[in-house]
Amino acid sequence: MTDAATAVATAHPNIALVKYWGKQDEELVLPLAGSLSMTLHIYPTTTSVSRRPTAAADTVTMDGLPATEAVARRVVRFLDLIRQRSCCGDHAAVDTRNTVPVGAGLASSASGFAALTLAAATAYGLNLNPRGLSRLARRGSGSAARSVFGGFALWHAPDPDAPDPDTASYAETLAGVRVDAALVAVLLDTGPKPISSREAMRRTVATSPLFPAWLSDTRLDLPRMRAALQAGDLAAAGEIAEDNALGMHATMESADPPIHYLTGQSYRVLEQVRALRAAGGNCWATMDAGPNVKVLCPADQAAHIAEQLTTATGHRTIVARPGPPARLHPHPKPAR
Ligand code: DP6
Repeated sequence: MTDAATAVATAHPNIALVKYWGKQDEELVLPLAGSLSMTLHIYPTTTSVSRRPTAAADTVTMDGLPATEAVARRVVRFLDLIRQRSCCGDHAAVDTRNTVPVGAGLASSASGFAALTLAAATAYGLNLNPRGLSRLARRGSGSAARSVFGGFALWHAPDPDAPDPDTASYAETLAGVRVDAALVAVLLDTGPKPISSREAMRRTVATSPLFPAWLSDTRLDLPRMRAALQAGDLAAAGEIAEDNALGMHATMESADPPIHYLTGQSYRVLEQVRALRAAGGNCWATMDAGPNVKVLCPADQAAHIAEQLTTATGHRTIVARPGPPARLHPHPKPAR
């Protein structure tokens, strides 16, 4: 075993301001519409991948324990992709460490697959630029394509008629952003997810009568969001983000059978965000496949808004600023 056979990478979660919800290709993980996110400076995932030339199978551990069967299966499928591309059939030992507090409901497949992509691509000697890494991370989990990048990232949907839609679907840094934004995450009590986001997305596309309307709105929201961020107009960005997220949840709630990620607590936080806004506050909500509410606001007002939300709702909050891109650790020791 040489050092070259082991690589360690860290990546951060991201929160979409224009959401990815719905695939045009399940196998290639190609989205129906583009999306735009902010990578967070908190809760990174660090993953080490060590090639094991003599091992008979991959091993996957998460936070020091063997991964669940479902997680291990997804990681092994992803390693299979890497093995195909690298022409190296070695099995690997994968060890992942998350820093998100247990039960906070902010665990992220985006940071996980972005870190795994960078570590595995390096351990297997694939020489990929950020765009190539993003396309590969996408195959693990769509939102991971964006966590390869820091700051604000834009993930392109391919034109379904494009000669090679796989090549056309990657994320990249959104240049020229002129807002100084933060996201305040309000940490609600989270139980187990009622349904995985992958399955929920599939069911929504297949059954929600509201989905086509949301999809066309999202395709308009994306260029508007981009323009708002580049113009330094956080209020416009916040309004688009909140509408886009509420619309996405409406599509899930109108799916058959319906999918409810938001709870009574989520709706109470949403009311508070509206109340703060009515009183002149600059804050707008977004929610993903879980009950937590994340509140977009100017960075210099985030601590105050977090305090107001904690006082009003009794829930813990954490302030996230824009975070860094996925990175490789220099000279990792071979994992054991
Ligand atoms: C609601 O990226 O977890 O967070 O591609 O099936 O792994 P898969 O889905 P995933 O979905 C994220 C959905 C979302 C919105 C977003 O991050 O854009």
